[in-house]
Amino acid sequence: MTSQSETDRPILSLQGIKKHFGGVKALDGVDLDLYPGEVVALIGENGAGKSTAVKIMTGIYRPDAGRIFVAGEEVEVHDTRDAWRHGITAVHQETVMFEDLSVAENIFMGHLERRAGGFLDWKGMRRRAAEILRELESDIDADAAMNTLSVAQKHMVEIARALSHDSRVMILDEPTAALSQAEIHELYGIIRRWQAQGKAILYISHKFDEIFAIADRWTCFRDGAWVGQGRIADVTEDDLVRLMVGRSVAQLFPKPEVTIGEAVLEISGLGNAREFDGISFTLHKGEVLGFYGLVGAGRTEVMEAIFGLKPIDRGEMRMNGKPMPHGSPREVIDQGIVYVPEDRQHAGVILPMSIRDNLTLPLTRALAKNGVFLNDRAEQAVGNRFRERLSIKCASLDQKVSELSGGNQQKVVIGKWLATHPGVIILDEPTKGIDVGSKSAVHAFIAELVRDGLSVIMVSSELPELMGMSDRIIVMHQGHTVRELARADFDAETIVAAATGLGRLQEKRHA
Ligand SMILES: Nc1ncnc2c1ncn2[C@@H]1O[C@H](COP(=O)(O)OP(=O)(O)OP(=O)(O)O)[C@@H](O)[C@H]1O
Ligand SMILES: [Mg+2]
Repeated sequence: MTSQSETDRPILSLQGIKKHFGGVKALDGVDLDLYPGEVVALIGENGAGKSTAVKIMTGIYRPDAGRIFVAGEEVEVHDTRDAWRHGITAVHQETVMFEDLSVAENIFMGHLERRAGGFLDWKGMRRRAAEILRELESDIDADAAMNTLSVAQKHMVEIARALSHDSRVMILDEPTAALSQAEIHELYGIIRRWQAQGKAILYISHKFDEIFAIADRWTCFRDGAWVGQGRIADVTEDDLVRLMVGRSVAQLFPKPEVTIGEAVLEISGLGNAREFDGISFTLHKGEVLGFYGLVGAGRTEVMEAIFGLKPIDRGEMRMNGKPMPHGSPREVIDQGIVYVPEDRQHAGVILPMSIRDNLTLPLTRALAKNGVFLNDRAEQAVGNRFRERLSIKCASLDQKVSELSGGNQQKVVIGKWLATHPGVIILDEPTKGIDVGSKSAVHAFIAELVRDGLSVIMVSSELPELMGMSDRIIVMHQGHTVRELARADFDAETIVAAATGLGRLQEKRHA
């Protein structure tokens, strides 16, 4: 089967694991073997059961059936502490952080180090936290409060937390969703070190470049069932897609020809004290304007400022030809502009509410202002349309969003804002965590709305997506727009060079 020698046995092994939630079979008898010194990529569509398997290995959920073995011995994992005791640690897809506590406290939460006499060893803990962060080559301050960190930094702390345990099995459930390219490479380095130390690593990602860069073997789930495993060296990307989806998927980004209309949103000379300056661009009716840049280039900050979440010190904004004052998000929404943030857990959807309410509430409110109300049938119709077009996998529209898989939650976030029929939608990393099949569904739906006159600003770090979907791309570097390209001139090398600050030099050379 594999190259393991006879004496090698899995550190962690799942056999015939089943788990259901109400009528939903999340896992229907899956197997998984993790060997020392190996990276296994767990792949599967949104809702395939990957995170559920992780939660069973870490004692967050109990399986309905099946057995778990650690180093050949059958065990029961009742809770996170139990998992730690067995040497199993995970960085979960949805991180739970204590926002008011410090970075060091978050890293050691649940296993605070005690000195003789039972006193908490704060000093030792802070020192150890700083050490781990240094090991990650991160400049995050161990004393900083969690709520002062960016999404990417919070993710780093999560990884530091995993490192604070002495584990034999490290599980990473979409660890790179919020990381920059440099940080991803840093993470690869850490994973290689773990490998060298003989740890087993389970790596979950929808990004094929990562899977091929880091994994030795793959295991695939489809609809809660185990569909196969093998060596990465023996498969192509197309093979993996077929295994996940059950059919071939053309990974195309359908950009329909749309007649670009008049200027809708005009931004000129926008700047604030620290984050960006001299930002000017015009978004037209029916246009998709892409924003590319490395993490920290200021793209998100500009979008947050336009949406009223950040201060603006200079510059002007016009909407439909009229000056638009810098207002609160509420006022910006009233102008017909919505912003779908990167951080869905905090600003995207209301998790304890149903899918239906998340999709139709913003719309209901908008209509009610004009004295129009939706009846249940109309609401159901709206909900069903979005469910189908965005391929949201759920038992029913009445299901709580909190019960959906990560990727399906992200689809609800997008759907919720699209349902308000905005004039302008700003999407920040819209397909983060969305599987390859659903991605083209999401893109097709956006393209359809663009044909009906929607204008889109798309911030994305995925170049194929950006180049496929955009009419123009603006590249940002260190808080400035450094390059603008029309669709006919799109070229990956030029775009990446501009994003790293090399664009100007290159232009000179070509001139
Ligand atoms: N607490 C829960 N209550 C009800 N259903 C749940 C719950 N947790 C997960 N599910 C369901 O179990 C199935 C598997 O979800 P899971 O989160 O494991 O998927 P995943 O493979 O991690 O997907 P993604 O790639 O989107 O993260 C989904 O249909 C999901 O809706
Ligand atoms: Mg998941």
